[in-house]
Amino acid sequence: MSRLESHIRRCQAQCACIERAAELMSELPGPVLELGLGNGRTYSHIREHLPDREIYVFDRQIAAHPDCIPDDDHIFLGEITETLPWAVERFAGTIPLVHVDLGPEVIREIAAQIPSLLCPGGIAATQAEAETEGLVSLELPEGVAPGRYFLYRAD
Ligand SMILES: C[S@@+](CC[C@H](N)C(=O)[O-])C[C@H]1O[C@@H](n2cnc3c(N)ncnc32)[C@H](O)[C@@H]1O
Repeated sequence: MSRLESHIRRCQAQCACIERAAELMSELPGPVLELGLGNGRTYSHIREHLPDREIYVFDRQIAAHPDCIPDDDHIFLGEITETLPWAVERFAGTIPLVHVDLGPEVIREIAAQIPSLLCPGGIAATQAEAETEGLVSLELPEGVAPGRYFLYRAD
């Protein structure tokens, strides 16, 4: 598979998993967290599928498309290892969806904090494996190869 094809499949997997996650949590109240704003592409996709949700974003820097930068009250700026504990304190057990688009090592480092953020039945969609106590792995949407993206539900 060419690098271009691999990139396209990763983007398709991201779209499909965000859409599945949005369906799964649609009846659960509360704001959504986007860990890794980057260019804002996945933020924009979440916003399209959950237009009425408050979305808080996290990144060490803001370098997104201007259309994809929320107001200052919805930005956690800084190293995720420092900002996430504040978020856990503020949102503990109330988040219906967290999307994590960070590197695999960072995801491994923060995985144990994800269940503390989620409400019962809340969903985590992650770019790399985030196996941890309190998260149950969910089936991926059709067409998404195992290991390309990850979906979890709070236990
Ligand atoms: C793959 S990009 C996110 C892409 C984005 N979701 C999009 O669709 O445009 C990862 C982002 O995570 C941020 N990031 C990576 N490690 C981080 C860390 N330890 N703390 C805070 N932000 C981090 C990077 O600055 C980068 O913007």
